[in-house]
Amino acid sequence: MTKVRSPLFYVGDKYKLMPQLNKLFPKNINTFYDVFAGGGSSTLYTPAKQYELNDLDEHIISLHKYLSKELQDYSHFVDHELGLIDHYGLSHSAENVLPDNIDEIKKKYKKTYFAKANKDAYIKLRDDYNDDQSRMDLFYLLLVYGFNHMTRFNGSGNFNLPVGNVDWNKNVEDALNNYSFFVKTSKFKFSSMDFEKFVESQDFQTDDFVYFDPPYLISLSEYNKMWNEDTDLRLFNLLDELNKRHVKWGMSNVISHKGNVNTPLMEWGKSYNVYPIKSNYISKFDNTIKKDTKEIYVTNV
Ligand SMILES: C[S@@+](CC[C@H](N)C(=O)[O-])C[C@H]1O[C@@H](n2cnc3c(N)ncnc32)[C@H](O)[C@@H]1O
Repeated sequence: MTKVRSPLFYVGDKYKLMPQLNKLFPKNINTFYDVFAGGGSSTLYTPAKQYELNDLDEHIISLHKYLSKELQDYSHFVDHELGLIDHYGLSHSAENVLPDNIDEIKKKYKKTYFAKANKDAYIKLRDDYNDDQSRMDLFYLLLVYGFNHMTRFNGSGNFNLPVGNVDWNKNVEDALNNYSFFVKTSKFKFSSMDFEKFVESQDFQTDDFVYFDPPYLISLSEYNKMWNEDTDLRLFNLLDELNKRHVKWGMSNVISHKGNVNTPLMEWGKSYNVYPIKSNYISKFDNTIKKDTKEIYVTNV
């Protein structure tokens, strides 16, 4: 299977690591539970009879719900988004639609020319979305053109990320096409709950597999703000409970990062199978590759 990214281009998504992880997942999965689904890359890569995706972030789940409906007809959705791109005057390199003065902008801003070229159009798009947040078509475009493909809202509920340095390119269309294939050929459900409530509300069957990719206590990320030592412990206790009930699970995590070690995780993990995972994290701040992060996969399988 090739590595195909989710069209949500989620920060910290698992798509590069899925070939390693998939080898460690059980074969013949009935329902695959993606408890911290984020962009859904783990789901997209894992063969199973059906899928349950959950994430506490309601915005991400609403985007999944929207895309899974719209991408029943890929061409219709892409044409609609391209119409909006045209309306706002955003660049889209998938069809080589670039501003007339792009050469001049490229010379002046060697690394940030898309951000410079799209800034004004992006602000207009963002204002329109903030005026009517039911416009999921605008929300998806904001995710494509926004800084690091992230979603972020201020205290008053307004989307407030600045423009990013990417546009609607071939990777976006490939990812949408792949997601479209998935939603047309698979059985899936979405929910947005705290992980513990979600797990407790399920009736696991033999051959189901529950995958956990929580925020990592000791690494930096926007969604790590929602995580602390107590949530880590709550998760370990839940995994112990599932183990007692013979429910199969696996969890990704980070054991050490920039000299910090997650000691409770290391101690707790000794009761299970722990595998090192080779990862190359890109810093969200400066695009450099971080080699000082040790990622692991813990499983009771
Ligand atoms: C490491 S990311 C998951 C990335 C995902 N595997 C992917 O490939 O895109 C962790 C996710 O946990 C979610 N999250 C944080 N706290 C949570 C909680 N208490 N319950 C459920 N999800 C939570 C965050 O919104 C974030 O999307």
